[in-house]
Amino acid sequence: MITIIGSGKVGGAAALFTALKRLDKEILLLDVVKGLPQGEAMDLNHMLSEHGIDVNIRGSNDYSDMKGSDVVVIVAGSGRKPGMTRMDLLKINAGIVKDVVENIKKFAKDSIIVPVTNPLDPMTHIVYKVSGFKRNRICGMGNMLDLSRFKQFIHEATGHSRDSVQAMVIGEHGENMLPLARFTSVSGIPLSSILPQSKLEEIVKSTREVAAKVIELKDATVHAPGNAIATIVGAILRDE
Ligand code: 2OP
Repeated sequence: MITIIGSGKVGGAAALFTALKRLDKEILLLDVVKGLPQGEAMDLNHMLSEHGIDVNIRGSNDYSDMKGSDVVVIVAGSGRKPGMTRMDLLKINAGIVKDVVENIKKFAKDSIIVPVTNPLDPMTHIVYKVSGFKRNRICGMGNMLDLSRFKQFIHEATGHSRDSVQAMVIGEHGENMLPLARFTSVSGIPLSSILPQSKLEEIVKSTREVAAKVIELKDATVHAPGNAIATIVGAILRDE
């Protein structure tokens, strides 16, 4: 079973992509807001019925329902608003995440935890400290999302198919992230031999800054993080 704690837009999108990829038969959406996870689950199940996909999504306000989870995704907390950095959320979200982790310890002590709440890196550290889990059972979702943006800029700059882009982003999920242009290739050709240095620098800068732009335009990032969560959960469950 996959549990997603936090049933707002990103939690809902994570459930959507996780179900479409058929990563597990059971997905649990948890939230403290009454009705929200239940409504989201209903809406998603209606969509899955039309697809003919037998993944069951349940909504709940009861942490004990996550018993038996293989993976628990933590999306709960406040999101970035226009003009905010991820670090501006530190104080608000630390308390929420600690509380969530206490419940994971109680009800899903054998799970692997995927923190998503921002600021991602400090939150992942809090999850590590509060859970007492071994470090290989905690995998923050940050660079997978940064990677999806890096790939899009490479696709736009080269005109090559998105499917041909092999790239990597490491480091902080924040202003200091490291899109690794020199480990990036397109159809097997090193990116540095296709694009001039100035363009590479522009792409790296845009990758670092584009989330703020999306938030400015539509108040939140939703589909790219939801999908990146599903990609990581898939990699964990399939041991890829
Ligand atoms: C993002 O990069 C806000 O951290 C979130 O989309």
